[in-house]
Amino acid sequence: MPDIRLLLIGSGAVMLGHMRSLVQLKGVKIVGLADVDEARMARAMEMLEEPVPGLLDYRQLLETVEADACFIAVPNYLHRQVACDCLDAGLHTMCEKPLATTTADCDAMIEAAERNDRFLQVGLSCRFSRVDSTAHRLVVSGMIGEPKMVWAREFRAPFAKKYQDWILDRDRSGGTLVEKTCHHFDLFNWFTGACRESNATRVYGSGGADWVYQDHAHLPVGVTEAERPTLNIIDNAFVTVDYDTGARAQLLLCMFANRGRKLEVGVQGTEGAVVYYRLESLVELYDGDHPKDPRRIEIDIPDDEVGLSHQGQAYLEQLYFFDCIRKGERPKVDGVVGKRSVEIALAAEESVRSHLPVEISATPLV
Ligand SMILES: NC(=O)c1ccc[n+]([C@@H]2O[C@H](COP(=O)([O-])OP(=O)(O)OC[C@H]3O[C@@H](n4cnc5c(N)ncnc54)[C@H](O)[C@@H]3O)[C@@H](O)[C@H]2O)c1
Repeated sequence: MPDIRLLLIGSGAVMLGHMRSLVQLKGVKIVGLADVDEARMARAMEMLEEPVPGLLDYRQLLETVEADACFIAVPNYLHRQVACDCLDAGLHTMCEKPLATTTADCDAMIEAAERNDRFLQVGLSCRFSRVDSTAHRLVVSGMIGEPKMVWAREFRAPFAKKYQDWILDRDRSGGTLVEKTCHHFDLFNWFTGACRESNATRVYGSGGADWVYQDHAHLPVGVTEAERPTLNIIDNAFVTVDYDTGARAQLLLCMFANRGRKLEVGVQGTEGAVVYYRLESLVELYDGDHPKDPRRIEIDIPDDEVGLSHQGQAYLEQLYFFDCIRKGERPKVDGVVGKRSVEIALAAEESVRSHLPVEISATPLV
């Protein structure tokens, strides 16, 4: 089978992380790059064994370089335009999360994939983590009964500096709960089975910009006084999500944790619980045999994955995308899945601001 010819659009932090494994993949050949920033593109080009066309305008790349697929890692507000152009150019498209910053943009991307009969995968890469997928296997095996409560608690540092501070601007990022916690909302959907079989129905959020993103109080990491952006994003929140199965889920996000990063995800079922700590590669199973002391499952991350982006998560995501293309099978982590996490995230952003619960009229099940 001929190599899959791949274009890379955007060469910032995440694409450089992707490239660490993309350049090693057998059967995949990077044939072109595009980025509006020459210096960033040059850094990406250095990771390739041989130079390829590198253009400032991705549309020229689409017109001039023959390819089969593309990876997109540009600021969130550009996802719709870039992904639709790539799909219209006939490329299978792997677009970074969040799928987009509005549900209308998500719809346009899903429609472009359908119209062109191409695959659209969204970079909700936690689903490919060896830790998260072990926990998911335990939950769907039925060992803990029916999932009733899901939670994710993340304590972390503020966002790193990004191209033109897009991440600090709600209009361009969608807001903290879209940019960062679309991952967590996707996990809630995944663990409650709410991607194809059921719906989130209501979202309640409480949050604010109370420390690092308090306007004009603290400078974001890596930003000088002269570059001080106008801040309109939040830095902490609690969000509760109700599902039509009767399950509910809750997020706790803190973006100013100065005592190190912590991430805990848990699922309480009718007969037990699964709790995991991705950063420690540890899954705990509380089932009928271990009601008090959990069974501790230490996840072995292969040595050659440890140094890759997100401990190999991005590498496994890439393998899956290319495998789907080779087999002609629609990726499971597709536009609809991407839209479902964005729907919850946008409702959470709205609820935090209005102090009211927000009903979701979810995407029809497909
Ligand atoms: N899957 C994950 O876990 C994960 C983690 C972090 C970020 N992301 C996502 O990846 C995307 C990129 O994030 P990042 O951290 O690399 O940001 P970044 O700011 O480091 O990089 C963005 C890049 O896009 C380039 N760019 C801007 N406009 C462009 C255009 N019109 N055409 C081509 N290139 C353009 C910029 O020059 C920059 O190099 C975002 O959507 C972000 O949410 C995903």
